[in-house]
Amino acid sequence: MSDLQYIRVEWDGELAMVVIDRAEKLNALNAEVVRELGKVFRDLKDEDDVLGVILTGAGEKAFVAGADIGDLAQLTPLTGMTVSREGQRIFTEIERFPKPVLAAVGGYALGGGCELALACHLRVASENARFGLPEVGLGIIPGYGGTMRLARVVGFGLAVEMILTGAMVDAERAERIGLVSAVYPQAALLDQAKTFMRGITKNGPVAVRMALESIYLAQNSASADAASFESALFGLLASTTDMKEGMAAFLEKRQAAFKGE
Ligand code: COA
Repeated sequence: MSDLQYIRVEWDGELAMVVIDRAEKLNALNAEVVRELGKVFRDLKDEDDVLGVILTGAGEKAFVAGADIGDLAQLTPLTGMTVSREGQRIFTEIERFPKPVLAAVGGYALGGGCELALACHLRVASENARFGLPEVGLGIIPGYGGTMRLARVVGFGLAVEMILTGAMVDAERAERIGLVSAVYPQAALLDQAKTFMRGITKNGPVAVRMALESIYLAQNSASADAASFESALFGLLASTTDMKEGMAAFLEKRQAAFKGE
């Protein structure tokens, strides 16, 4: 992944750290950053050793302060639709990534940055984090899935409030409304994010993957289809070595040693 201009990928054991590094513009998403995000997640999908991804922004001020407003100012109706569709497509690839993706939000997550955090499966934040969808203040609406995903995470009423006011939500409120799972001091954010993820990656990898598959299918299909899909995956997991190991370990009162098989 050496051909990347704005994104760094670092490994820490079974975790991949994806860092958006355009700090001088508060990691704002120009077309190239969005393209690189798509490439990185496509490449990571094929890395068998990666059991989880932490997505974060460089610097202490921002996760991502939104789509690049300089670029947005040039949009025409046609390019606007294309840009929105391309962002939606790539953010959906992140949402459908087969292993857990955690957004570690240190600072501003605004506009497209908030939508990017929402496309991740989980979010944690630093005490100085601020979330918001300020698009209406710029005369536009969220275009990278925010009008769909925010309501799923915080509920319909709060999503309407946040999108129509454009007001920022601080870290404490974000935790209270379920927008983030935990808030940490800025200096501890990445270490705590790794610890948080290891609470997931210690589990059976196939089971974690199937759980994500089932959860996200349930979001997008009628409940009868989701229920039968859940049962099918539940049954399928009975064929895995991991299931046998997980249950044997419990019955034998020892730690499970999962192989991802
Ligand atoms: N697009 C393009 N550039 C951005 C940006 C964005 N979304 N957000 C920040 N930047 C740039 C600023 O223009 C500035 O660049 P400059 O140094 O070349 O002038 C740099 O990042 C630092 O930002 P600055 O505004 O000076 O920092 P601040 O601490 O005073 O304010 C924010 C921080 C986040 C409150 C402010 O940058 C802001 O409101 N950004 C836009 C947020 C937004 O509306 N996002 C949604 C877009 S749809």
